[in-house]
This record gives sequence, structure tokens and C-alpha cells, in this order.
Amino acid sequence: MKNRIYIGNLQKHIGEEIIVAGWVNVRRDHGKLIFVDLRDMSGLVQMVILPSHTEAREIASEIRPEWVVEVQAKVNKRPEKMINTDEQNGDIELEALSIKVLNQSLTLPFEINEDTINIDEEVRLKYRYLDLRTKRMQKNIRVRDKVITFFREYMHKNDFVEIETPLLMKGTPEGSREYLVPSRIDQGKFYALPQSPQQYKQLCMVAGFEKYFQIARCMRDEDLRGDRQPEFTQLDYEMSFITQEEVLQFTEKMFIELVEKLFPEKKISKTPFTRTTYAESMEKYGSDKPDLRENKEDKNELAFVWIIDFPMFEKDEDGKITTTHHPFCSAKEEDKKKFMDGEDLLSIRANSYDLVLNGFELSSGSIRIYEQELQEKMFDLLGISKEEQQSRFGHILEAFKYGAPPHGGFAPGIDRILMLLLGEPNIREVIAFPKTGEAKELMTGAPTPANKKQLKELGIKIQTKK
Ligand code: AMO
Repeated sequence: MKNRIYIGNLQKHIGEEIIVAGWVNVRRDHGKLIFVDLRDMSGLVQMVILPSHTEAREIASEIRPEWVVEVQAKVNKRPEKMINTDEQNGDIELEALSIKVLNQSLTLPFEINEDTINIDEEVRLKYRYLDLRTKRMQKNIRVRDKVITFFREYMHKNDFVEIETPLLMKGTPEGSREYLVPSRIDQGKFYALPQSPQQYKQLCMVAGFEKYFQIARCMRDEDLRGDRQPEFTQLDYEMSFITQEEVLQFTEKMFIELVEKLFPEKKISKTPFTRTTYAESMEKYGSDKPDLRENKEDKNELAFVWIIDFPMFEKDEDGKITTTHHPFCSAKEEDKKKFMDGEDLLSIRANSYDLVLNGFELSSGSIRIYEQELQEKMFDLLGISKEEQQSRFGHILEAFKYGAPPHGGFAPGIDRILMLLLGEPNIREVIAFPKTGEAKELMTGAPTPANKKQLKELGIKIQTKK
């Protein structure tokens, strides 16, 4: 659109004739005068349609909320007594000279001039493209972009390289159920979608990149809660020749800078962040995600806590030994002998750490195993046969034979960070197109059945549940 001006930039054009385009936010018919609030991505402005501009007036009397219009208008200063200092462009007004309707809209299923937080969420998700027009959702998604940009810049400033790792991959043991994708070419075989790029980022260390990061999409088929989605995003990073202390310091500095730059209204209760061991935290707070805010009513307080020295192993529901985090964490030096001897497994502590914020786990990480024998020992302790070790983890055991450097990393969950910093009650509010508790995407209706041809090509037969 030639010479279109964004509503947010109108202040620079007072007295001029300009073109704006956007949506009709509200229309008020005052008989003689018609007022229309126009909205574009940069904000709102009031437009007045005078009886003297007959053609514009005729169109203005027909237009309805959410119609899309292009308007030629004059930018006027408002008379002193009409100035509203509380709103954007409260000191100016557009005088419509001509209006072109670019598209019409049905009446919306819900009001978008108001916050939609109390509207039935199923309806919001079905019409997510409308829900996203609201002020709060526009803000959340734009802040998300800013936070991701901040992380990217912070990483690049510190010499990290962003590397995309495969989405179609072999399973990785991150503790949840995997999403599987059937292979057409190799019928009967499946790719797994990444629960995280854990193994690839470690292989990037073997590959000599030394500092890797990725804004990584992760997929986990797990029971959903307010702070969990089947698809989510991590700021995933890994460094070679690094100590736990260095990972903690680097990360802490990054979060402090993030809050100072993008959320200056928030205050971090304590720096350096509180540190506590897993054992202390369980004893003192009965949780490994303690909420250490001094005033839980204060929506601007941020209480970060490091939880360190997690146990390496725990027992699963069947009483079988499993890892607390994942099988790539190294044992603490003091517990290495027990690890090698396979003794008193539940008392072995790992070089692993979590960052907790206001009672939510933001991130997990560890200093990894990088020696082939130790990795094999870990799999032995987990009761994985040598055969299975080869078939599931042969690649990483092999890679560790070729000069793998010591390494470690971390993976803050971006959705949770945003939920907490934006003061939202769940992570769906900070994801453009989230899924429901039943892992459904209500707008498109996914998941949907595959057609006969697709199933035939994949060699898949569906057995319906009786
Ligand atoms: P972990 O499994 O602890 O570690 O995940 C790290 C962080 O990712 C976020 N997260 C989620 N966010 C939304 N929905 C989910 N379903 C979900 N699951 C996890 C959390 C969590 O703290 N590879 C390791 C990290 C490492 O060792 O470097 C990992 O993925 O914020």
C-alpha cells in the first residue's frame, strides 16, 4: 500500500494527509458524527467521519467491528478539552476523507476488545487467530519474540554457534514417551521426534564446536499440565571444557541481564541466586522446586534458586533403577567409586543442577559423562544389555572413542520463562497455537485420521479400540 503509515507513527504526521490501514476496533454512531477506532499492529487511533465527507460517511455507517479498511485521512490535533492522556494517540484524531473496505467480517464468537482470559478456552483455541488479535495475546507473542532474540544475541555474543539438529531421529531417553513417525521407504520402521536435542548436542561437542546452542523444539507425549505442552521450546546449550560452576555463573548472568533489559519492573529477590543441594531442599522445603519469594502476593518478585547435587538414580514405579535426569549425567567425584562398583546406587549424586523460579522448574542440566567406559557402565547399571546398548546408543558409545572432550550444558524451557515473567497462569497463554490437555490442536483439529492411501504406503493397519 503506497505511503501507508503505521498508527504508532501518526504523531510524526500531524497536519498531513496520510493513508492508514487496519481493522475496525469499535464504531460509535453519534448521529451527526461517526467515530471509528482503527487498529493495526502498532496500536489504536480514533477516527472521526464528518457529515461533509458524504462518501466516507456512507461507508462508515455500514462498516462493522473487525472489517478491514484502508483510509485516506488528515491527522488533526485534538482540541485541548478532548485530549485523553491515558490512551495512545489520545491527543490526535484522524479526519476520514475516504474509506475503502478491503474485507468484511462476521460477528466474532467473542469480544476481542477485552481480555479473553475468562472466555471458554476451547472457543479461544478454535478461533485462535481471533484470540491472538487481543492486546494481551499480541503482547505475549511479541515479548516471546523479544526474549528469544535476547537469548540468541546473548549466545552469539558469547561465541556460541546455533546448530539445527534433526527432528526425525532415533529415540533419546529423556524420560517421557516419544512421538513416532512411520517411515514410508523403510516400512515398519519409525523415526522418533526429539524429546530434546540431548545426544546431538553432545555429539556437537565431539565434533569440536565447543559452544553450541539452539532454540530447540522438543516433543514429548506426556500427561499435560499447565506448565507442560506436548511441543515446547528450549534454549538448549552445551559447552566443552567447562565446569558446573562456570555453567551456573554463565546462566545466572544471562537471566539477570534478561530481567534488567526486558522486564525492568521485576525485581530479583537475591543475587547471587540462592543455592541449595537437592537433599537440603527436600529436608527444608519438602520439594526440589521451592518457592522462595518473600512476598508471594508481589507479582514482580522473582526468586531464582539453584538446586544442585541431584541423586543420579531413583526407583521407578516397578522398583527398577532408573536415572533421575538422563543417563548422560556424570557422577560427583566423591561418589565415583560407588558408581564404578555399582554399590549403594541411590546414594550416588550427579553433577546435575536445576534452576527453579518461584516454585517452577525452569531448567535442568549437568556435566556429562564423556568417557566410553563410564557411559557403558551407566547403561550396565540401568540393566541395559550390551546388545541393547549397541542398538540404542551405539553411535554415542562409538563417538566417545574418538577424543570426546569433557562437556556439560543446560536447557531452560522458554515457555515456562515467559509464563512466569509475563505473570500468566499457564504456558498456553504464551504459545501462539498450543494444544489442549488431550494434546489436540482445536483450530485445525489435529490429530486427524490418515487416509487409506497414506496408510497403505506406510504399511500401517489401524486396529480400532474395542
Ligand atoms: P529437561 O527434561 O529437564 O532436560 O527439560 C528442560 C526444561 O525444559 C522444559 N520442559 C517443558 N516445558 C514445557 N512443556 C514440557 N512438556 C516440558 N518438559 C520440559 C522445562 C525443563 O526444565 N536435555 C535435558 C537438558 C540438559 O541436560 O541439558 C532436558 O531436556 O523448563
